[in-house]
Amino acid sequence: KYQRGYFMPPLTSFKWAQQEYVTTPPTWCSVDLRDGNQALVVPMSLEEKLEFFQLLVKVGFKEIEVGFPAASETEYTFLRTLIEQDLIPEDVSIQVLTQSREHIIEKTFKALEGAKRAVVHLYNSTSVAQREQVFKMTKEEIIEIAVSGAQLLKQYAAKTEGNFRFEYSPESFTGTEMEFALEICNKVLDVFEPTPENKVIINLPATVSMSMPHVYASQIEYMSDHFKYRDNVILSLHPHNDRGTAVADAELGLLAGGQRIEGTLFGNGERTGNVDIVTLALNMFSHGVDPGLNFENMLDITAGYEKLTGMKVHERQPYGGKLVFAAFSGSHQDAITKGMKYREERDCNNWTVPYLLIDPQDIGREYEGDVIRINSQSGKGGIAFLLEQHYAFDLPAKMREDFGYKVKNVSDQLHKELMPVEIKDIFVKEYVNI
Ligand code: KIV
Ligand code: ZN
Repeated sequence: KYQRGYFMPPLTSFKWAQQEYVTTPPTWCSVDLRDGNQALVVPMSLEEKLEFFQLLVKVGFKEIEVGFPAASETEYTFLRTLIEQDLIPEDVSIQVLTQSREHIIEKTFKALEGAKRAVVHLYNSTSVAQREQVFKMTKEEIIEIAVSGAQLLKQYAAKTEGNFRFEYSPESFTGTEMEFALEICNKVLDVFEPTPENKVIINLPATVSMSMPHVYASQIEYMSDHFKYRDNVILSLHPHNDRGTAVADAELGLLAGGQRIEGTLFGNGERTGNVDIVTLALNMFSHGVDPGLNFENMLDITAGYEKLTGMKVHERQPYGGKLVFAAFSGSHQDAITKGMKYREERDCNNWTVPYLLIDPQDIGREYEGDVIRINSQSGKGGIAFLLEQHYAFDLPAKMREDFGYKVKNVSDQLHKELMPVEIKDIFVKEYVNI
């Protein structure tokens, strides 16, 4: 009952497992305005999409999927507004999604009129489940959909002046037999005839993630090893998060030959979401690799995201959550304060402070307020640290234990976190106003 009906036997190639971490950042493509937007309870308005686009540009995305212009009036108008008001920076390429139907492709190219650069992204579904249940088509018929769509893209692009590149996605790739996925991608590549100057993106989505990350990575490695025109193909990954492993899928997929990632800020997207690019990029940063995206001002990014999507960034969301650097417990506070002191006393290039994966300041978070936080679980070291940070007051070592208990008792009785000013007030009440 619980076993998936269409189980794809895992491949057993593990070349990717020889590497420790991703050393080269991929090309990042934000699909917030398409995959992310289509999953919102209330999709973004034109104004909200325009503001979100600016946010993505600020973060540093050079490829942004702006929508499915043939699918709705808002999507169409949004694209026209970007082009007509010249809102797309010179170094940014927009991307649009289309199905393989002539009237849709025609409308897509109409929406693109005047665009200087764009990726036109063609997809059709290839999985066993979709072929059998939804389309009731043979493999040959599914190939024909992809090939005829690719031919139309080529014809329409030839009639325009813009610099258009192509992308193809075998949607539901993870539910597709690998040999068939390879065959259909190679047939599409035969139509596009990629060259070094005009590379084609083949995007392999975990439309629904169905396997553990090492299986997805092995599938990526298999495809990467067998594509025709491999040097002229950009292998893109598009993991969704159904099994909660989209980040792991992406990381292993990059080790396995992926060169590009499609994902969203904080993992918004269909069902459990798309891969969270913030986490992926900052995981790279934590390994000393510059991801090429700018998260220096994380609080502004989370605020913009929450305002425009109506979604919340969870307090424990890696890197973006309000509480992800917070240490309430005494032993953690002690280790962090000692680690910080150790750094101060030495010329440390690497970040080695216990319990903190990265320096919170690198993404605009503060030690005061974001790291050492005081409640009934806290320790004397953390309490002394806050008095020093906020009031330049060096609590004498002999008083620390006694004062620590007093503060923790107050927090326990009030059943709440204490702010630095409250800690100072307790100090004054206990030791000054006697
Ligand atoms: O998840 C998916 O398969 C998609 C495709 C349209 C690329 O979003
Ligand atoms: Zn998707």
